[in-house]
Amino acid sequence: MCGIVGYVGKNQAAPILLDGLSKLEYRGYDSAGIAIRDGEKEAEVVKAKGKLINLYEKTNNGNDVKGHCGIGHTRWATHGEPSEINAHPHVSDDMNVVAVHNGIIENYQELKDKLIRKGYELYSETDTEILTKLVDYYYKKYKVGPIDAIAKTMVRVRGTYALAVMFKDYPDEIYVARKDSPLILGVADSDCFLASDVPAILKYTRNVYYIDNLEMARMHDGKIDIYNLDGDIVPKDTTEITWDAEAAEKGGYEHFMMKEIHEQPKIIADTFNSVYKDGKINLSEVGLTDEEMEKIKKIEIVACGSAYHVGMVAQYVIEDLCRVPVRVELASEFRYRKPLLTDEDFVIAISQSGETEDTKKAVVEAKELGANTLAIVNVVGSSIAREADNVFYTLAGPEISVATTKAYSAQLIAIYAIAVELGRVKGLIDDAMYKHYIEEIQALPDKIEKIIENKERIQWIANKFAYSKDVFFIGRGLDYAICLEGSLKMKEISYIHSEAYAAGELKHGPIALIDDGILVISCLTQEGLYEKTTSNMTEVKARGAVLLAVTTYGHYNIEDNVNYVTYIPKADEHFMASLAVVPLQLMGYYLSVARGIDVDKPKNLAKSVTVE
Ligand code: AGP
Repeated sequence: MCGIVGYVGKNQAAPILLDGLSKLEYRGYDSAGIAIRDGEKEAEVVKAKGKLINLYEKTNNGNDVKGHCGIGHTRWATHGEPSEINAHPHVSDDMNVVAVHNGIIENYQELKDKLIRKGYELYSETDTEILTKLVDYYYKKYKVGPIDAIAKTMVRVRGTYALAVMFKDYPDEIYVARKDSPLILGVADSDCFLASDVPAILKYTRNVYYIDNLEMARMHDGKIDIYNLDGDIVPKDTTEITWDAEAAEKGGYEHFMMKEIHEQPKIIADTFNSVYKDGKINLSEVGLTDEEMEKIKKIEIVACGSAYHVGMVAQYVIEDLCRVPVRVELASEFRYRKPLLTDEDFVIAISQSGETEDTKKAVVEAKELGANTLAIVNVVGSSIAREADNVFYTLAGPEISVATTKAYSAQLIAIYAIAVELGRVKGLIDDAMYKHYIEEIQALPDKIEKIIENKERIQWIANKFAYSKDVFFIGRGLDYAICLEGSLKMKEISYIHSEAYAAGELKHGPIALIDDGILVISCLTQEGLYEKTTSNMTEVKARGAVLLAVTTYGHYNIEDNVNYVTYIPKADEHFMASLAVVPLQLMGYYLSVARGIDVDKPKNLAKSVTVE
């Protein structure tokens, strides 16, 4: 996700801002920029696409841009391609307001229409330019000060933001506002700092204010005044940061993977909200109008690794909700089997990085055969995003850990949105069920929070199996697709050999591998398959297996048949992968930690496999 920084004080601002942005690079970005004010002069804005070094070079390491007050930004594109024009800071037409923003403005389209009606012109594709000009609009319309103008903007905006603003009429002052996106403010001697994350200011101060949701602040004369939405001062004390820089990048978690597991509730909500408005899912921006969806007769999904496992979930969900045949193929296989595709076919490519060579080439092949292609990717402007006819961007933010967690979960949400809409268009989902499915998807984040709250139980179980040689995962239907992902997590970060099997398949060979003490993990989230899977568990237990069950609260009788069980909240069965995968992510994580492995950078693996 984006990173913002700001400084006002006795020193030149530009070098401090560049240094702060360099400490936020780990968050991932595609462009950067700073805006500096030198006393009464108009702000000077310098932006550069690509790596931060380009901005260093453009500003001669910040030495060519004079002034003691400024804001800066590293951009992770969500609205609008990575480019200099879309990079922050963004400005109002007359440079009255200059701003940087981390977050997503959900109602930016309606606000854009409003500003155009009021005579504003827009130069970028970003929601942040809209936000900046809305502040300018209220500042001029009501002839109020910065805090009131920002407060009126906050009331009008739907979405998330960490916003830093400079006003032409208020030199040597910075104003900030926050809702849901991270933001901290720091003070040291006569200097004030702001940043999206601790690493950016740790070098200058450990005394910070944690600004709360819907609060604003004024940074001036070495002081920080914090306000509530009514414009009243909110007394706050500073907190001393005790983290070191490395821990700060991980938000205080030991590994990025754990941080990203914890981010899942928020990114699920962000991803769903990107296509949900006024009680309806709207996929028109990803090329799926009702008319386009009516044409869909069958679906081919191509992907690799965990993205392929999302495809396996998609097959069960889409076929059940839409009665449209879905075929899921490993991209590396798809390309070489001379796929039988025509212009009647609809191909979905799933990829977190958007750069996986196998998947990219599969999209090229599908297009050459005339198929209509949709990419579900997490990186704006990535190769696969550019190659496909349409793109559904997941809003998981940069995923640092090699083992995917939050991106996998965001991809599931994209699939659910497509499946529910397609089912509605096919006349198989009536208004009542449509509302039910939407409510069930919206309830997932809280349920995941509850699962994560119990993470220590998973750690306790994992520590008992840290020296396992072989682990098996078994499940039926959607539970089998979940097992595939759980097994991959275990393999790739704990190096324990693991296999996932459709539970009904054990008797056709794999059960020969079951011996005393071998851990078998079973997923039981599909009520109609519960008895069948428990009978398979009995078979392996009779041969010495140790059983861990992942099932929903209420199935307490399972404790008579297994050694361990971890319960998860119930949800509509179509969406249970989003819940059942979390204990399996945690299981893989804790096994890796117990075995002293570098969780975020496992051996032999890369975050994005850009070779065949
Ligand atoms: C998942 O934990 C792995 N890192 C890997 O299987 C990954 O899912 C696969 O390489 C596909 O990557 P993509 O989603 O970026 O295309």
